[in-house]
Amino acid sequence: MTYTSSTVRVPDVAAVPRHIAIIMDGNGRWATQRRLPRVAGHTRGVDAVRATVESCARRGVEYVTLFAFSSENWRRPTEEVSFLMRLFVTALEREIGKLHANGIRLRVVGDISMFDERIRALIQRAETKTARNTRLTLTIAANYGGRWDIMQATRKLAEQSVEEGQAVVVDEASFAQHLAMAYAPEPDLFIRTGGEQRISNFLLWQLAYTEFYFTDTYWPDFDADALGRAIESYGERERRFGRTSAQLAPQSQKVDTLSC
Ligand code: FPP
Repeated sequence: MTYTSSTVRVPDVAAVPRHIAIIMDGNGRWATQRRLPRVAGHTRGVDAVRATVESCARRGVEYVTLFAFSSENWRRPTEEVSFLMRLFVTALEREIGKLHANGIRLRVVGDISMFDERIRALIQRAETKTARNTRLTLTIAANYGGRWDIMQATRKLAEQSVEEGQAVVVDEASFAQHLAMAYAPEPDLFIRTGGEQRISNFLLWQLAYTEFYFTDTYWPDFDADALGRAIESYGERERRFGRTSAQLAPQSQKVDTLSC
C-alpha cells in the first residue's frame, strides 16, 4: 500500500469510516453485574466481535482493528490470561472458515513471539488462508502495545542502516513502513466501550487525527445499533486536519460568498 499519512497529506474523508479501531472494554464489569465470573464477559465479548465485524462488512467499512490483548494485560491473574488465550484459539478455529467465506482478511499484530507455538501456527494458517480477501481486513491486536510498535519500527530502521552501511533517511514514510499495521490507512474512528476515556497504549502513532468515540456500553452489549450510533456521531464530526472550518466549506458556497 502506498504510504498515506494525515500529517503529510489531508486524507479523503467519507461518511462511513474506512477504518475503525476498537478497545473492547467492560467485559469483566458486564459479568460481575450479572454475578458471573469475569471470564463469562470475555466469552460474550466474542459474540459482540462477530456482530461488529458483520455489521462493519455490511456497512462497507474496509478495516476493523480490535484490541484483544495488550502488552500490559499479562499483569492480569494467570487464570484470566490463560482463559483469554484459549478463547482466542477457540474463536479463531471456529470462525476462520466463516471469515474466509465472507471475503474477510485476517491479520494479527503484536509481539506474538510470546505466544505458544500452537497459537502462532494457527495465526499463520488463518492469515495465509485469508490473505487474498479484499472485502474487509480484520486486525486483531494481540500482545500489542503502541510503544512496542514504535520501538520495533525504530529498531528495524536502525537495522536497515547497518545492512546498507549508511544512515537511512528517517522520515514518516520510511518509519511508518515498519509499523505493524503498515498495510492499513490510519483509523478514521476510534471506539472505546466500557466508560473509560483513554487509549491505553493502543495505536499511538496512527491515532494522530482519528475521531474518538467513548461509550458507557459494556463490550458484550455493543451491538449493531450501538455501532450505528458511533458511526452516526462520526458523520457529524468536522475533520479539519489542522485547517479552519471556512476552508472546508463546499466549493459552491465559496463561490457564492465571493460573488456577493
Ligand atoms: C477488556 O475488558 C477486554 C479484554 C482485555 C479482552 C477482550 C477480548 C475479547 C472480547 C475476546 C476477543 C476474541 C477475539 C477472537 C478477538 P475488561 O476485562 O478489562 O473489562 P472490565 O474493565 O470491566 O474489567
